[in-house]
Amino acid sequence: MSVDFNTIEQKAKQLLPPAKEAGQSLQLICDLLCEQVPYYNWTGFYFAIPDKRILVLGPFCGEPTEHTQIPYGRGICGQSAESLETFVVPDVSVAQNYLSCSAKTKAEIVVPVFLNGRFVAEIDIDSHNREPFGPEDEPFLRRIAEHVAPHIPSVFDPTRF
Ligand code: SME
Repeated sequence: MSVDFNTIEQKAKQLLPPAKEAGQSLQLICDLLCEQVPYYNWTGFYFAIPDKRILVLGPFCGEPTEHTQIPYGRGICGQSAESLETFVVPDVSVAQNYLSCSAKTKAEIVVPVFLNGRFVAEIDIDSHNREPFGPEDEPFLRRIAEHVAPHIPSVFDPTRF
C-alpha cells in the first residue's frame, strides 16, 4: 500500500487561505487526510490554551470523541502538549498514558503545531491498524503542521476561553 504524501501535501496547501476560508480549511484538510491515507481513520486538530494548560478539540473527521478537552499531561495528546514532542504510538494497547476514543483505534500519532516558536495546536491521527506508520508519516505531518500554523490564530483565539 503506497501513499503519495507529496501529492497529498500539495492538495492540502490548495485548501488553505486564500483559496478557502480559514475556518473551513482545517476541516477540509482533515477530510483530505482521512480520504487519502487509508490508515488515517480519525484525523483532528486540538487547539492549545496555554494559560489553562488545556487542549480543545477543533475540526476532525472520523467518529465523534468524548475527549473534547484534554489537560496537558493527560493521554498521548496531553503528553505531546507538555513535552512539545511528536508522539508515535504504534500500539496503543501497551501505552501507559492513553485516552481511548474508540475501541477500534490501534495506533496513534500526535504532531505539535508551532507558530513563531509557540505551541498553538496539534494534529492527532488515530489508526485502526496496528503499527501502521512508516518513515514518511511524521515528516509529512510536520510539513502539514507548518502549512496550517499561520492560519490557526484566525480560527482559534485561546483568550476567549
Ligand atoms: N487518544 C488521545 C485522545 C484523543 S482521541 O484519540 C481523538 C490521547 O490519548 O490523548
